[in-house]
Amino acid sequence: MDEIEAMKSAIKAAYEGKPFVSPNPPVGCVILDSKGRLLSSGYHKKYGGPHAEVEALKGLSNEQLSGAHVIVTLEPCAHEGKTPSCAKNLAKLPIAKVTYGLVDPNPLVAGQGAQILKKAGKEVVEFKGLKEELEELAEEFLMNHRNKKIFTALKVATSLDGQMAMKTGESQWITGEKAREYAHYLRACYDAVLVGAGTIKTDDPSLNVRHPEVQKENRVVVLDADGTMLDSFNSLKISKAHKPENIFWCTSEKSKVKNSGQIHVLKIKMRGESFDQDHLLNQLWENGIRSLLIEGGVETLGHFIREKTAHRLYLFVAPHLMGAGGAQSWTKFLSLSSMKERISLHHMRTQKMGEDLLITAKF
Ligand SMILES: NC(=O)c1ccc[n+]([C@@H]2O[C@H](COP(=O)([O-])OP(=O)(O)OC[C@H]3O[C@@H](n4cnc5c(N)ncnc54)[C@H](OP(=O)(O)O)[C@@H]3O)[C@@H](O)[C@H]2O)c1
Repeated sequence: MDEIEAMKSAIKAAYEGKPFVSPNPPVGCVILDSKGRLLSSGYHKKYGGPHAEVEALKGLSNEQLSGAHVIVTLEPCAHEGKTPSCAKNLAKLPIAKVTYGLVDPNPLVAGQGAQILKKAGKEVVEFKGLKEELEELAEEFLMNHRNKKIFTALKVATSLDGQMAMKTGESQWITGEKAREYAHYLRACYDAVLVGAGTIKTDDPSLNVRHPEVQKENRVVVLDADGTMLDSFNSLKISKAHKPENIFWCTSEKSKVKNSGQIHVLKIKMRGESFDQDHLLNQLWENGIRSLLIEGGVETLGHFIREKTAHRLYLFVAPHLMGAGGAQSWTKFLSLSSMKERISLHHMRTQKMGEDLLITAKF
């Protein structure tokens, strides 16, 4: 197996753990023997659990590891946290080389993991290829540490002509089963799903993770400036689908809403008719949320785009037309007056999902 194949395989393994590791990064590791043959692979399976390197090393003898090459998606950690330092652990073994994908931006690591290994006489190389794939794998963690910001992704299902709901509000279901199943995997990969009160009112969604292979309790954020939907909280599906402590209801600091049960009610400062975006995101950060999957509706998506606080788009496109005359475009709340103001996305990728298409790109 060559180094590129090994790194691709480590990235693939890391995605297995992605729903369960936050606020840690998803990490994958592959070990090749001195002749370049695959010895093992492993990934970080859950927050607080063994790191990818430890998982990959399980069951391997010093004899097998003599002259081995460890390929890992992120620089081995230098510090002792919930688990011992991976760099120190690797330094003691008879391996010859460590190739890592990205420098860990965590100041407790940031180059120090590589230093420990170099000092122990290992060949240490930062991998030059697959940077886009490596960055995408750990983009939430990288944003949290490099920019001290919550990573936000917009998830939208539209028709071929860009419509996400009829004017009546009807929108179920636009995409097919495969796309919807993948959307549930995405829910699991983010710390919380966020929707506006309009979506709660029209769709009464559960917003939980229903996936054949991924079981996870997730958190939900609802934007409801005047708090009207909170009055009927007990009759909503989300009140049954989630533990109260996993629900965050964001209302205007001026609203007089009463707390229904033990859910978190966050009072957010207003800027005109809209939430102050910095205050909203700070409040969510204070409550331990490091990544958000924003699932709509139209107004909420528009808000995140206008405020330039969206980092990734997942656009599921179904092969039918809903017609702009009777439907609502997903960018209805975005009003630009010239071509020079258009918003460019980059690193666009497409993937077929049953009959539908998933387009993902970075803002
Ligand atoms: N196709 C899809 O992927 C998809 C996904 C989700 C929803 N939908 C559809 O989208 C439609 C709902 O969209 P919508 O635009 O009516 O509703 P929405 O965006 O879900 O909710 C709008 C409400 O959320 C609150 N809100 C959102 N952003 C805010 C901000 N920045 N500041 C303050 N309050 C904020 C406000 O609550 P207050 O009223 O309390 O002020 C506002 O009235 C439905 O038809 C639904 O079926 C489609």
